[in-house]
Amino acid sequence: MPKLGVNVDHIATLRQARGVDYPDPVTAALLAELAGCHGIVVHLREDRRHIQERDVRILRAVLQTKLNLEMAATEEMVSFALDLCPDQVCLVPERREELTTEGGLDVVKNEEGLTEVVSRLLEKKTPVSLFIDPEPLQIEAARRIGAPMIELHTGRYCEVKGAERDKELQNLKEATSFGLRLGLIVNAGHGLNYQNVRPVAQIPGVEELNIGHSIVARAALVGIERAVREMLELIGE
Ligand code: PXP
Repeated sequence: MPKLGVNVDHIATLRQARGVDYPDPVTAALLAELAGCHGIVVHLREDRRHIQERDVRILRAVLQTKLNLEMAATEEMVSFALDLCPDQVCLVPERREELTTEGGLDVVKNEEGLTEVVSRLLEKKTPVSLFIDPEPLQIEAARRIGAPMIELHTGRYCEVKGAERDKELQNLKEATSFGLRLGLIVNAGHGLNYQNVRPVAQIPGVEELNIGHSIVARAALVGIERAVREMLELIGE
């Protein structure tokens, strides 16, 4: 069974929507740990649209499990990570206009730059993962540049239905076993939810699944009755 990393970015999205100081992704992370998750994931984006530096620094200090920092391979972020020493870094592509991370890193095209970033992080003993599409050429390139770990982008599997989904699942299975044969640790994530997660969780050898949006979305719904009852009590119903 894979481990679960909970991404709390969208707790921060809710906070930033109002420019107030709640809900705090740090509180959500600690509650997720109490529920038994194996790690917390945050993406500190260049535009700081959800997670803030303050969140990452507090998480670094208080988490009992591990902090997996998703970030672009920019000088600003590499310096930040070298200073912070998270338990894990996942390098992701980043485009300002995207709603969420849209595709995997093109390791083949950016081999030189990524090699340098990976080696600087590894020198600091920070395990580095590359978020890539489940394609053999990208997996080989990840191995070539010395990354110990990859995260397979499950977005396409989540987007399609029926026979196409079966095909994407098969692709994820083959990509996982190829990565394992090359000696890589293989994680997976993006777009996984309560309806589509099981077949991916059953792929032999997947180390961890990183899931955010669907968990935060469900938390809002399963928690709303209690939240309303608590407000009614305060009002004095
Ligand atoms: N893994 C990576 C590398 C991501 O960029 C994201 C989104 O931030 C996730 C996992 C989680 O995706 P979702 O929020 O769709 O579960």
